[in-house]
Amino acid sequence: MSELLWEIEKEGRIGTKLPESGVPQREITDDLPERMVRRGKIGLPQVAEPQIVRHFVNMSVKNHNVDRGFYPLGSCTMKYNPKINERLAALPGFLNLHPLAPESSVQGALKLMAHLGELLCKIGGMDAITLQPAAGAHGEFTGLMTIRRYHEAQGNPRKKVVIPDSSHGTNPASIVFTGWEPVEIKSGPDGRIDLEALKPHLNEDLAALMVTNPNTLGIFEKDIKRVADMLHDVGAQLYMDGANMNALLGIARPGDFGVDALHYNLHKTFSTPHGGGGPGSGPVAVKEHLAEFLPKPVVVHRNGEYHLDFDRPNSLGKVQAFWGAFGVMVKAYAYILTLGADGLRRVSEGAILNSNYLLALLREHYELPYDATPMHEFVLSGEFLKKYGIKTLDVAKRLLDFGFHAPTIYFPLIVHEALMIEPTETESTEDIEKFAEAMIQIRREAEENPEILKEAPHNTPVRRLDEVRANKNPVLSWWDIAAGE
Ligand SMILES: Cc1ncc(COP(=O)(O)O)c(C=O)c1O
Repeated sequence: MSELLWEIEKEGRIGTKLPESGVPQREITDDLPERMVRRGKIGLPQVAEPQIVRHFVNMSVKNHNVDRGFYPLGSCTMKYNPKINERLAALPGFLNLHPLAPESSVQGALKLMAHLGELLCKIGGMDAITLQPAAGAHGEFTGLMTIRRYHEAQGNPRKKVVIPDSSHGTNPASIVFTGWEPVEIKSGPDGRIDLEALKPHLNEDLAALMVTNPNTLGIFEKDIKRVADMLHDVGAQLYMDGANMNALLGIARPGDFGVDALHYNLHKTFSTPHGGGGPGSGPVAVKEHLAEFLPKPVVVHRNGEYHLDFDRPNSLGKVQAFWGAFGVMVKAYAYILTLGADGLRRVSEGAILNSNYLLALLREHYELPYDATPMHEFVLSGEFLKKYGIKTLDVAKRLLDFGFHAPTIYFPLIVHEALMIEPTETESTEDIEKFAEAMIQIRREAEENPEILKEAPHNTPVRRLDEVRANKNPVLSWWDIAAGE
C-alpha cells in the first residue's frame, strides 16, 4: 500500500481536483495505477441477510462488555453509560463540527465547553479548568506541568514529588515525564498516607504530593486536609488523581480539603466507557493561583460571545490538538445536566452502598488486608488460596465461566494476590448477589476441586491464553493472525 501511495504522490495525482464548476472532469480511476483498478465483479460470498445478521450478532457477544453483564474491574469504573448520551454526542450539529471553523459559527460548542468547565469546577470545588487532556495519564502530566510552571515562576522548579506506595502506575510515570523524581512513601497500617513517612520529605525540594482519593484501596484519605496544610507550609502543592471521583460526587469537594490541582476521568465518571481504545478525556481543574499556567487556549465569554483565548503569556502551551475530545465533553455535559446536583450525589452514594454490600457478602470468604470501611471499591487478597495451589489469576479466570468480567488483579501492588472489586452504582442488588455467590462457590472449589480453577475458563470462546507469550509477542493485526503468528 505504501508503494502505491508513493507512486501516486510522485506523480502528483492525489485526488481528483474539482474545477470551479464543482464537477470533476476526471474519473477517480484515472488516478489509480492500472493494476489496482478492478475491471470485473467483486466476487463477495453470497450470504442471505439473516445469516449475516446472525454472524455479526454472535461475534458481537463473544467479548464481554458492560451491556452484557457485570464488570467489576477495580479502579476502572466500568459502569453502564446511558445510550441517550451517545445519541446526543452524535447529533449532526456536534458531530460535523470542524475545529478550525470560525468562532462565530461554533458558539454553541464553545458555550458547551465553557459550561462544562464551570460545572466540573463546581463539582470539584476548583477555580479554573482545561478540557484539553486526552486521558487520565495525560491529565496527570498536564496538571504536574501546570504546577511546575508555577514553581518556576516562584524561582524554584523543585525536584521531587511524593507518592504513596498504593499509587497507580501512571503517577510515577507522569512525575518522571515532568522532569521530577518520584519518591515513594509507605502507606500506614490502615492503608492511608502515613504522616510520619511524609515528614522527612517536607522541604524546599518537594514540588508536590500526588494522591488518589479515595485511594486505590478504596479508602478515603481522612487526613487529607492535614496533608495539604503540611505541604503548603513548605510551598509544595497537593495534586489529586481524580480517577476515583465516582465516590465523591456531591459528597466532598477536593478543593475544600486543600487540593491545588486534580484531573477528572470523564471516560469513567461522566458517561463515556473506559477502555476499548475509544477517545478519553482528562480535564485538569486547579485553584486560582495555578490558573494562569494552564494550557491554552481557554474558552472565555467576552462581550456576549464565546472565544478561544490564546493570549495567555504564562500558559504552558497546548497539550492536545484542536479542542480535545469534544464528543466525550458532550456526553459528560448531558450526564451532569440530566442528573443534576442531587442525581450526582446519588451516583456516588449508590456506588459506595453497592461496594459495601458486596464486601459484606464476601468478607468472611476472602481476606481483607486493610480493614477500613471502603468507599466505591475494595481490595481483597487471594493469598490464603495458595495453600490449595490456587492463585488470584485462577479465581479471575474461573469468574469468566459464570458470565462475569474479572476484577482487577495484582493491583494495588501493596496487596499480595490482590482482587480489586468495583461494582459501581449501576448494578442491581440481584447482580451483586449473583457475583457474590460465584465468588463464594469459587472459594469452595479452590478447597474441594482446585483443578477446575486451574483449567478455567471452560465456557468462553477461547480457553486460557498464554499471557506471558501474548505480552512478549503481541499479535495485534489480522494480517499477523492470518500469517499464523
Ligand atoms: C487511579 C488511576 N489513575 C490514573 C489512571 C489513568 O487513566 P487513563 O487510563 O485514562 O490514562 C487510572 C486508570 O484507570 C486510574 O485508575
